[in-house]
Amino acid sequence: LADVVDDPIFSAIGFLNEIMTRYPDAISFAPGAPYLDGLDRAVLSDALDAFLKHSCEVEGLSPTAAWKRIIEYGPSKGIVNSLLARSLRDDYGIQATADDVVVTVGAQEAFLLILRCLFNPAKDQLAYVVPCFPGIRGAAAFLGINTVAIPENPAGPDLGVLREACATARAAGQRIAALYVAPDFSNPSGTIMSARARAELLELAAEEELLLLEDSTYGFSASEVGSVPPSLKARDTGGMVVQIGTLSKLCFPGARVGFVVAEQMARSATGGARRLAESLATLKNMTTVNTSPLAQAVAAGLLLRAGGSLAVRGMIQNGHYVRSRAALLDALDRHLPDAAELGISWTRPTGGFFLVVDAPIVLDHAALAACATEYGVLWTPMSDFYPDGGGSRSLRLSYSYLTQTQIDEGATRLARFLRTRLLASPTTEGTR
Ligand SMILES: Cc1ncc(COP(=O)(O)O)c(C=O)c1O
Repeated sequence: LADVVDDPIFSAIGFLNEIMTRYPDAISFAPGAPYLDGLDRAVLSDALDAFLKHSCEVEGLSPTAAWKRIIEYGPSKGIVNSLLARSLRDDYGIQATADDVVVTVGAQEAFLLILRCLFNPAKDQLAYVVPCFPGIRGAAAFLGINTVAIPENPAGPDLGVLREACATARAAGQRIAALYVAPDFSNPSGTIMSARARAELLELAAEEELLLLEDSTYGFSASEVGSVPPSLKARDTGGMVVQIGTLSKLCFPGARVGFVVAEQMARSATGGARRLAESLATLKNMTTVNTSPLAQAVAAGLLLRAGGSLAVRGMIQNGHYVRSRAALLDALDRHLPDAAELGISWTRPTGGFFLVVDAPIVLDHAALAACATEYGVLWTPMSDFYPDGGGSRSLRLSYSYLTQTQIDEGATRLARFLRTRLLASPTTEGTR
């Protein structure tokens, strides 16, 4: 047998999910997992009831039809599309209808469907903003699509580099067909794109005929309500943006429910034109057939319990993240008061699940293993988010699902690890 799974990017997400089982006693700042305390069986069963009630009272199904809908095969587009579209319109000003939405098995399936649908690997390249969530670069690798990394500035992607990359691709008889970007508290860096950067990116997209794949995963997680500028999709008047969302962080990741908003008309292989959402749903017949209707029902039931609103659900969930972020920043300040002298610094995000620490030492997988074994704390090497190289002296801390006690203890251990490593290798300073 010839195993062709040769790109390390394919292991990156699995690694984040599995490393904790290797070091079960360690405090783990590794995975970007949501905080799920309180989401017990009773809550999920109540959510299912809420969805069944909604199916009958609002959608007009009989109780039998409502039940059958969640245990049978279902439409490949999904069964909670109108609920999602309504919330996207009312909460976020995205003019979506149910027909524009495809419910996917997490955001990850959405990436695969979009790239498979719109890219010709012989001539189309995907640009992605680095550091980057590995799922999108991995999806491109899965489909044999070439990628171009665009560095991230404090306010968003470096548009100069993006423009140059488009020109370089053109000169080589290729084109950059789309840019993947997560404007709201990106994973891993926590960057939030300013309103101005969003406007400039949309302008550039129109000039370069570049589709923007907007990942809205962490939009709900701002420290201050109203501090997130409108999404690219909400400002999109020219059909330049396909938005990808997920209920993994808002509800629970085990549901595996995500969605795409794709109202654009696309030329079909047979010459006609149809809505991109239709084409994605057609392809989905060959990936997962449909997203589990039972999972859609439970996740949508949680939304219904929040008035059918993604934003309200987000606010309910977000209190924990705001407190955890403050607790981690406070703990790092207390446990590393001499950070500046040591050459250590960290970001101060205002949303998202992540914080990035820079230090003048190599922070790779070997350092992680040593830190886990000797100090009982886990994190993620930032190099995992630079698939084409970079990030070797930085680590990502995820504070999303730990308690404040764990955060404080984890920061103590991390500070000890960093200080000891730094003192053991003083000559590394200046080589960053
Ligand atoms: C930026 C970003 N997009 C997408 C996803 C994946 O979401 P899903 O669980 O819906 O596949 C994640 C998960 O961590 C993420 O951080």
